[in-house]
Amino acid sequence: MTKRVGVLTSGGDAPGMNAAVRTVVRAALHFNMEPWGIYRGYHGLIHGELEPLTDRSVSGVIQRGGTILKSARSDEFRTKEGQSKALDVLAKHEIDSLVVIGGDGSFKGALALAEAGVNVICIPATIDNDIACTDYSIGFDTAVNNVLDAVNKLRDTAASHERVYVVEVMGRDSGYIALYSGIAGGADVILIPEVPYDVDQVCGQIVQANEAGKTYNIVIVAEGVKSISGASGKTSPSFEIGNYIAEKTGYDTRITILGHIQRGGSPTVRDSLLASKLAYHAVELIYQGKTNKVLGEVNQAVTSFDVDYALAQEKQLNLDMYHLATVLSAI
Ligand code: F6P
Repeated sequence: MTKRVGVLTSGGDAPGMNAAVRTVVRAALHFNMEPWGIYRGYHGLIHGELEPLTDRSVSGVIQRGGTILKSARSDEFRTKEGQSKALDVLAKHEIDSLVVIGGDGSFKGALALAEAGVNVICIPATIDNDIACTDYSIGFDTAVNNVLDAVNKLRDTAASHERVYVVEVMGRDSGYIALYSGIAGGADVILIPEVPYDVDQVCGQIVQANEAGKTYNIVIVAEGVKSISGASGKTSPSFEIGNYIAEKTGYDTRITILGHIQRGGSPTVRDSLLASKLAYHAVELIYQGKTNKVLGEVNQAVTSFDVDYALAQEKQLNLDMYHLATVLSAI
């Protein structure tokens, strides 16, 4: 029987996931394997939502954001019962290999399947870029470009009204989107979860910049930064920070939360190429009988690490970029 390869997307969607799915399908056919699409991530796997895919199933999707396979976060899959149901579905459909496209939560699920004997290869896709063992994850570049587009627009109105604009961007525990978009968007202040901040110092820097001739300011806040009091809560930190800046400096201040718009849209060239490259290597590894790997790209070369090793690593902030931000902005 022809070897069957399943593919699923899991966790928050990321632009470029479709490019990866498309390549998995076409590479599988190239290696004479049968590609199967699993819908709604691990939730769909548990509930038997899967079907064979053909070359045509993935035509016209490379430029589309989101994921044609849908995505979900599954609490059930975190349980032994859920995992055992998923294994039964794979066995019933004679699928012994799986490409998992998602973030580290998805890779934890993949590890459980690998330990149960499924050949699993993981591809990092999350706008947060919080996965170790790869320089960039699929979707990050598009998200940063989305943020940059918004910041450039906000700059027009900030300059016209001579205001402070506080812009909250995504990144649950990671400052990558804030840092990169802040540098590219010329932000005066960039606040990220990895580095504690002092809000009075932030106000002081804004005042100092304005006394030196600036007439408006852009402050980028990652959603994962702690509140002013230091607590990490569920509410958006940008409201508290923006209101504090307004009160303390007396400057007219506006707060914008960019939200899920950051996750949509056509993938950039960089994300499409990264997705295509990693997905091809994933299928090639499966063809070679390899398993239990997280793929990545480090210094433009494709790398692969054992899933448990990759999960144990902590993604490091790019310190060169952080230094650059401190030189270019007020932080
Ligand atoms: O992990 C990607 C991400 O977009 C985070 O930046 C954000 O905190 C989270 O997902 C939002 O999740 P949801 O789409 O479930 O609201």
